[in-house]
Formats: sequence, C-alpha cells, structure tokens
Amino acid sequence: MKVIAGNFKSNLTRNASLQYLNALDSKLDSRICDNKQIYIFPSNTSLVQNNYKYITLGAQNCNDSNSGAFTGETSLLHLEEFDIDTILIGHSERRNLFFENDDICARKFNYFKNKNFRIFYCIGESLDVRKNNKYLQFLESQLKAIDTNYKNLIIAYEPIWAIGTGLNATLEQIGECVRYLRDISNAPIIYGGSVNENNSSDILKISDGVLVGSASLDVDKFYQIIKE
Ligand code: 13P
Repeated sequence: MKVIAGNFKSNLTRNASLQYLNALDSKLDSRICDNKQIYIFPSNTSLVQNNYKYITLGAQNCNDSNSGAFTGETSLLHLEEFDIDTILIGHSERRNLFFENDDICARKFNYFKNKNFRIFYCIGESLDVRKNNKYLQFLESQLKAIDTNYKNLIIAYEPIWAIGTGLNATLEQIGECVRYLRDISNAPIIYGGSVNENNSSDILKISDGVLVGSASLDVDKFYQIIKE
C-alpha cells in the first residue's frame, strides 16, 4: 500500500480546490488507485464534505479543542462537520513559522489520537543538523513524545532543506532515514520535499509514500504521480 498525499498549504482558493478535487476524482479509477491511498490537504477554508470516491480529505492544522475561545483557529467540531478524520501535525512550516515545538505537536497528537484520527506526523532536520551529521538522532528525538505504535499513524519525513527548494534529498539519503525510522515504528514512512512527477516513482520504491507540496497544485502533475 502506498500513500500519495498532496499538501496545498495556503494555495488554491475554495473554488480552485473544488474544481481540482472534482477533476482529480473523476480522472481516477479503481485500477489506478489499486493499493494506493490518495489524500489531499486543502487549506481549512477550502474543506468540503469528505465523500470523494478515491480521495480522502485531511486538515493541514487544527486546534486541539472541541470548540471554544481560540480566535483564528479551527477546532474539532469544524472538521467533524465535514467528516474529516485525517490531520497533518508537525509540518516544519508550523514548527518554524508558527512556533509549534515538540510539546505542542505532541499535545495535538494526543488529542487527535484520542479522537481516533489518522495522523500524518511530520518530522525533518534543518540543513545545519544535516551538516552536523546528527540527523538520525534528531529525527528520533522528534518522535520521543508521541506514541509511535499508534495504529493510525503515518510518519512523514520531510527534510526542511528539501522543502520548496527544488532540492530533493538523494535516494540514498531518503533510504537511510526511511530504514532508520522503520526500526523505530511500524507506521508507514513517507517522504516529502520537492517531490514531483519525475522523481516520485523512484522515491516510492524506497518509501511507503510521498507528501507532495508544489507539484500537487497542478492536477495533471499530481495525477501523473498517482499513476506512476
Ligand atoms: P514541496 O513539495 O513544495 O517541496 O513541499 C513539500 C511539503 O512541505 C509537503 O508537506
């Protein structure tokens, strides 16, 4: 089983996302999707009913609360209204731009684990950590505070230096981290960072899936990645 996921980040409006989802779902069929799970993470204002035939929708972020006084946040009730039970936690953009440290990520993890969500938990090292050769220990430390045996966990390894840079990690670099993480957890280990329609099939041979940013914004490119 391979996981193919697209993270729209703060791109594609509600209208554009709807057009995209309808176009992609109608291009897919059971043969193409055989042994694959397809996920799309639109921005929260573009969330719609999670009832596509081949695509599962997920949230890029959510407050760890049912509802309440959390100005600017989306809470569990908002996701439940759309039957959404998949979430990204710990993306490096949340960690770095919105100061979500390991403690906050673990708190969110525990909250959504208790709600039985499918959790894509993102980890990945900076260029400095990579250069200091401490990346494997660093990845392990990012998983310390969460239950790596959780049955609905997917671990997304996304080296920060490979995100949005066009500089994807080599197959050797990805393979080393995937093997290391497989010793820590039985969860599927997927890779993200400048994945596109040209490199995805090789990456999928050595990992359990891909988390695609920019290349997922183009429905034809994302379709190509799924088809490969
Ligand atoms: P890019 O594919 O644009 O490098 O983004 C990867 C990513 O952050 C997916 O979550």
